[in-house]
Amino acid sequence: MRLAAFLLNAIETLKQADIDNPQLDARLLAGHALGCDRAQLLSQSERVLTDEEISILNALLTRRVRHESVARIIGKREFWGLDFGLNKATLEPRPDSETLVEAVLRLASRNRRLLDLGTGTGCLLLSLLHETPHATGLGIDINPRAVEQATTNATALNLGSRASFRAGDWLNGLTEKFDLIVSNPPYIPSADIPTLMQEVCQYDPLLALDGGEDGLAPYHLLIPQLANFLTPQGHVAFEVGQGQAQQVATLLRDNGFITIATHKDLSGIERCVTAFRPD
Ligand SMILES: C[S@@+](CC[C@H](N)C(=O)[O-])C[C@H]1O[C@@H](n2cnc3c(N)ncnc32)[C@H](O)[C@@H]1O
Repeated sequence: MRLAAFLLNAIETLKQADIDNPQLDARLLAGHALGCDRAQLLSQSERVLTDEEISILNALLTRRVRHESVARIIGKREFWGLDFGLNKATLEPRPDSETLVEAVLRLASRNRRLLDLGTGTGCLLLSLLHETPHATGLGIDINPRAVEQATTNATALNLGSRASFRAGDWLNGLTEKFDLIVSNPPYIPSADIPTLMQEVCQYDPLLALDGGEDGLAPYHLLIPQLANFLTPQGHVAFEVGQGQAQQVATLLRDNGFITIATHKDLSGIERCVTAFRPD
């Protein structure tokens, strides 16, 4: 079978499976399997695929038909212009989370020591360290396999000397103070999880999604403790789910934080809340 014919069949198969971007996904999977970029795929459209190539391509296609995302299938996802490796324990980084990185960088504070709670792939911490050359950071995740992946990602991004990762339950056992604490905690109300896209509810880890009954459990747990882990004038940045920003802002105000601001993502949804600890 020629590559062009395989791609046409693949697009049709993905359409039948209700996949949103069948053309794009077929091209990405074929490019990944054959080690070709878009231009090479086009120029090699008449290439005759070997039996082995067809069987590899079909295996990838079957995974996509089962609604595993392309990023999970190819094992990496771009975030803040950097590549982050994924494994089963890590949430796939989302473009919405770049709102937090942007908001923190706009605050332009002196961030020498950073803490990322629920680090997953390490995408928030590593993107911030990438933009802040003199800073160092610690990422914590309850899942040791996420910690492994974040550590691998740090090395691949040449940030291994400034980033460390540790398995832990939020702030438990920490004694150090930080200039900036960021977190994108699980914030989906438990009952909503089965209604999410299959790509999310079947493949993103439950630990990365489930925010308890109203989705706000991690904020209620973390915010009252944060001042103990911040330097004077240190600040915090939380990602929040749609409709949660005002409740998280109130929680921060009730716990003595000042200069509270919300930041919208590209869809106009309040996606991040930042706040400062007073002196
Ligand atoms: C929404 S994901 C965010 C991952 C990554 N920071 C990102 O933005 O893509 C939440 C992360 O919190 C971690 N997590 C859940 N409960 C935790 C806990 N008690 N202590 C530390 N991390 C936890 C999950 O394993 C998951 O990696």
